[in-house]
Amino acid sequence: MNILVIGSGGREHALVWKIAQSPRVEKIYCAPGNGGIGEIASCIDIKADDIDGLLKFALSHDIDLTVVGPEQPLSLGIVDVFMKSNLRIFGPNQRAAILEGSKAFSKNFMQKYSIPTAKYKNYHDKNTALAEIDGFGYPLVIKADGLAAGKGVIIAEDRTEAEEAIKGMMADKKFGVAGSTIVVEEFLQGKEASILAFVDGNVAIPMVSAQDYKRALDDDKGLNTGGMGAVSPAFYYNDEIAERVKQDIINKTVEALKAENIEYRGVLYFGLMLTKDGPKLLEYNARFGDPETEVVLMRLETDLIDIMDAVIDEALENIDIKWSSDHAVCVVMTSGGYPESYDTGFEIKGFIPNGIDRVTFHAATAIKDGKTITAGGRVLVVSALGETTKEACEKAYEVVSKMDFKKAFYRKDIGIKKDSL
Ligand SMILES: Nc1ncnc2c1ncn2[C@@H]1O[C@H](COP(=O)(O)OP(=O)(O)O)[C@@H](O)[C@H]1O
Ligand SMILES: [Mg+2]
Repeated sequence: MNILVIGSGGREHALVWKIAQSPRVEKIYCAPGNGGIGEIASCIDIKADDIDGLLKFALSHDIDLTVVGPEQPLSLGIVDVFMKSNLRIFGPNQRAAILEGSKAFSKNFMQKYSIPTAKYKNYHDKNTALAEIDGFGYPLVIKADGLAAGKGVIIAEDRTEAEEAIKGMMADKKFGVAGSTIVVEEFLQGKEASILAFVDGNVAIPMVSAQDYKRALDDDKGLNTGGMGAVSPAFYYNDEIAERVKQDIINKTVEALKAENIEYRGVLYFGLMLTKDGPKLLEYNARFGDPETEVVLMRLETDLIDIMDAVIDEALENIDIKWSSDHAVCVVMTSGGYPESYDTGFEIKGFIPNGIDRVTFHAATAIKDGKTITAGGRVLVVSALGETTKEACEKAYEVVSKMDFKKAFYRKDIGIKKDSL
């Protein structure tokens, strides 16, 4: 089989790495890919949101299966376009991708089908929002409706911060049209966990749990980022919670999708808050999460291509998905200054060979004059497996300590359980 993976981050490197293990795969292309992905796939210079360019490439290169990493091409309808040309593609169609593309839509969907979530109200107009929000109490949560690259959620501690956030989104258009509608919701207290599930339209099979570290600095201080590390399993996730999530959230979502005539095939990501009143759903993502993918796929033992085929052919029920009981940890190495301003173009030194229990995924690297250089904020994602989270953690940090580039930064507390998490 010839495979095309779309995207250029650590998630896509992990997807390409896992897909390359399938005996059914002959050739992998990645658009646009990065310096590390280029070692195991042919990187092609087409951007992830260039749907036309990607379609032409797939048609002219005998691509048997296309796998979509990021959300933008899904929201732009790449799956519909490819299917019209009779190309096999893994991911939800445009109508289904709205579960991630519009938070206002997904909150209405959760409420309509009694899927546990934070109390909320959607606002299309600033003055109504400003007049009503005090009713939620403080802190409260304000979310831009549309895609905002993980930056569209603000937790406001008081009225002043809430006003500033609402004005920023609705009047100053900080997130463009994504902020024309906002969701205001009650603040939930608890521990977070991420559950990714394979969904074929009829059934959903959850993957092993994961938990990411969103803040830039140790002890969950500093700004929100695209993710500074992750662990799998999630610390506070147990069989009892898993069962509840399956019944109250995952299965209800599948039934709701059917009731709405939304054909969802692909990965559906459930962002959860484990509260004292049970698990509640914060949001859906219509794809693999990053960096959750870099820990979850380390534990996947089944051929990913077999699973993707089963998703596309609505045959998930017939497949037995196996996971390693090992724990996985990943640590993200960033360019100093990220998520604010930072420099790139520095040579990365000290790479060590990947093994079965440690892999260095590239999130933003490039090759220049035969050298691997930094090319973005999140640069490398070092993943490791161990019998315990502690062991996996030690292995990951051992690899991290050998690598270096100018102004490299990483959190020192990934995988260390704290009650304050
Ligand atoms: N109702 C809520 N109560 C408490 N924290 C929340 C709530 N909603 C979101 N958050 C926090 O904000 C983060 C981002 O929100 P989320 O809905 O996942 O949007 P996105 O990932 O698109 O930015 C969550 O991971 C969580 O830490
Ligand atoms: Mg989220």
